[in-house]
Amino acid sequence: MDDGIVARYPKEVVLKTGGKVYLRPLREDDVERLYDFFLNEVSEEDLMLLRDNVKDYYVVEGWCKNLDYDRVFPLVAETEEGRILGNATLHHRDYGWSRRVAKIRVLTCLRCRGLGLGTAMVRELLEVAQLMGMEKVMAEVLSSQKAAMDALEKLGFQKVACIPELAHDYKGNKHDLCIYLYTVRPQWDTF
Ligand SMILES: CC(C)(COP(=O)(O)OP(=O)(O)OC[C@H]1O[C@@H](n2cnc3c(N)ncnc32)[C@H](O)[C@@H]1OP(=O)(O)O)[C@@H](O)C(=O)NCCC(=O)NCCS
Repeated sequence: MDDGIVARYPKEVVLKTGGKVYLRPLREDDVERLYDFFLNEVSEEDLMLLRDNVKDYYVVEGWCKNLDYDRVFPLVAETEEGRILGNATLHHRDYGWSRRVAKIRVLTCLRCRGLGLGTAMVRELLEVAQLMGMEKVMAEVLSSQKAAMDALEKLGFQKVACIPELAHDYKGNKHDLCIYLYTVRPQWDTF
């Protein structure tokens, strides 16, 4: 990854309450902080709709110890005291047909929902995607994740497909999987 991208951080975000958080890439020494976020700052429902079992300490440790920003660029939002309030990732492969497509995932803490953090984190990763030369950014959202759908649509993502009843939650309910797509403006078009 271009050093210039990492040099953007920390980046201050002012929430709707006036409180400040700081965006920065995940670091090797974040294991305890990130694990605490998953365990104490999000709901069981949110966790059950994630792809990975983040209640498993070794999953979180594995992410922090095997950082490769070219493959997964993980962004966290932290308070001045070092508490993580949000986690968002940009997934990318630099070979094959999907090398111009990145995938985005975002999760913010329950007590700070609606304060602008999710939007700020997605917006930041869209800028990173642009700097990396991506043409499209994809997001997979379950039909029950209404806030995510609203947030992505407001940011300019379009729902391009919906696969009925593909996902099962922990209660056995089925959910449609919706694919959202964002077209990145080429960097030369920004000025
Ligand atoms: C989606 C998510 C990241 C939004 O985070 P957030 O910190 O609340 O984001 P924002 O405060 O910027 O809100 C963005 C929009 O989400 C919607 N939203 C936020 N909170 C909401 C709530 N409690 N109910 C309904 N919609 C809500 C609103 O449309 C809001 O836009 P507005 O502020 O203009 O009204 C968060 O709800 C979350 O982590 N959800 C669980 C994980 C998930 O669904 N991830 C998406 C899959 S990639």
